[in-house]
Amino acid sequence: MPRPSPAVELLIVARDLSRIYHTGGTRVTGLDHVDLEVGAGEMVLLKGVSGSGKSTLLALLAGLDRPTSGMLHVAGLDLRKASSAQLTLFRRRKVGMVFQSFNLLPTLTVLENVCLPALLAGDPESEVRKRAQTWIESMGLGSRIHHLPGELSGGEMQRTAIARALINDPPILLADEPTGNLDTDNGRTVVRLLADLNRSHGRTVIMATHGDLADAFATRIVRLQDGKMV
Ligand SMILES: Nc1ncnc2c1ncn2[C@@H]1O[C@H](COP(=O)(O)OP(=O)(O)OP(=O)(O)O)[C@@H](O)[C@H]1O
Ligand SMILES: [Mg+2]
Repeated sequence: MPRPSPAVELLIVARDLSRIYHTGGTRVTGLDHVDLEVGAGEMVLLKGVSGSGKSTLLALLAGLDRPTSGMLHVAGLDLRKASSAQLTLFRRRKVGMVFQSFNLLPTLTVLENVCLPALLAGDPESEVRKRAQTWIESMGLGSRIHHLPGELSGGEMQRTAIARALINDPPILLADEPTGNLDTDNGRTVVRLLADLNRSHGRTVIMATHGDLADAFATRIVRLQDGKMV
């Protein structure tokens, strides 16, 4: 599939990017000399068997982990050289993350879960609540706003997690197997929501997936094998 044209703003530039894990005396290659450019407005799927490096790459892009070597610029920030204060700001404002296991806080309601990242970022509470309500409604969860995660279906939990990922209005959405714990119907709904955020709202989406539900919406499919792009 085509690479972004030079006229498109590059949101992600990775060159020769590697991540080696050293655990208990063992050396494991998570990511092996990967080159990747992603333009604003793309929807990129990461595919590959278990252990191929999808989550490793997403964690690096999210600023949750640091590369062992290579260059990585995301949304204008050099993630290898960034200070921890810069990384904190980057994680709050530039990327939203969605995980296979939803990662909602069980004692907080849907509204409270969605508000949390914006309150942590220091935004005023009344304004945050309004923004959260808008996203919750646009995810079709208006009637679940005061429910706890344990009172939701898997699909509803994942839509809550998507609203939470959007609350700080990040240009980039990173999703690690977001449909992995959902049945096909709910998986399809989640994929459509992510595709709509990409197409109608201009978000750049990078999504790791084993399935083919999102293939039709992707601008590009990147395949990983043993940490390498193939
Ligand atoms: N924290 C870690 N410490 C040591 N090795 C790790 C760590 N995280 C990942 N790895 C290793 O790095 C390689 C890539 O793992 P990664 O989790 O990125 O794969 P994946 O493509 O996301 O797989 P899956 O489809 O199962 O989620 C694997 O060999 C894995 O065992
Ligand atoms: Mg993974």
